[in-house]
Amino acid sequence: MEQVRLNIDGVEVTTTPDRTILEAAREVGIRIPSLCYDRRMDPFGACRICIVEVEGARGLLPACATRVTDGMVVRTNTEELRRIRRTIIELLLSDQPRDCMTCESAGNCELQDLAYEYGVKESRFSGEQHHYEVLADNPLIERDYDKCILCGRCIRICREVQGVGVYDFVNRGFEAVPGTPYNRPLTETPCGLCGPCVSPCPTGGSVSLPPKGEGRPCCCMNQQEAVGS
Ligand code: SF4
Ligand code: SF4
Ligand code: FES
Repeated sequence: MEQVRLNIDGVEVTTTPDRTILEAAREVGIRIPSLCYDRRMDPFGACRICIVEVEGARGLLPACATRVTDGMVVRTNTEELRRIRRTIIELLLSDQPRDCMTCESAGNCELQDLAYEYGVKESRFSGEQHHYEVLADNPLIERDYDKCILCGRCIRICREVQGVGVYDFVNRGFEAVPGTPYNRPLTETPCGLCGPCVSPCPTGGSVSLPPKGEGRPCCCMNQQEAVGS
């Protein structure tokens, strides 16, 4: 296959044109943060945490949704990018319950990891917060949309990998959440409770019920299969 050469953070990278900047960076060990990206699914480009600078581009570009081109020069970790990422993290945290002490996903939460990495303790932003009812309408999966960051990974894995398509975004704007048709319980949809929609959730928006309260996943199980990061 045709090869392209680009420069990422000073590293010369040779890869194929079907790669995104994020994938090409990871091939050479350069980590660009991500939340809505999942290597098993098509790029979604929703969270913007993966923004990078590309010389000659008119603005910052999402690394997960931008294909590499020959001669590209990319910077992934400038002070300006880190400042913007901190703001994105703060905005996400401003609408989170921040109950990490008892959250089933603490220690296995990509948003928590990013807050740690970027030194975000508090959010400067305050505003209306969601207070959804926790959905435990089946024996296996609990959904707590107060923790949902609308990354769409649960929706997309069910549709693109499992080929079922139980969820889609319902409602608009501030009220948007992943939901079932007519908000039916999962047991009244084609859902087979197979479970892959739980593992990619980067927060505690969707968790497995059986181990709830009986111990969190071991850190060595953390999201490797789900994130590809
Ligand atoms: S349990 Fe399986 S079928 Fe049900 S929503 Fe999740 S991925 Fe889709
Ligand atoms: S429930 Fe989790 S995986 Fe689904 S959209 Fe919300 S944050 Fe993403
Ligand atoms: S990981 Fe690229 S936009 Fe979310």
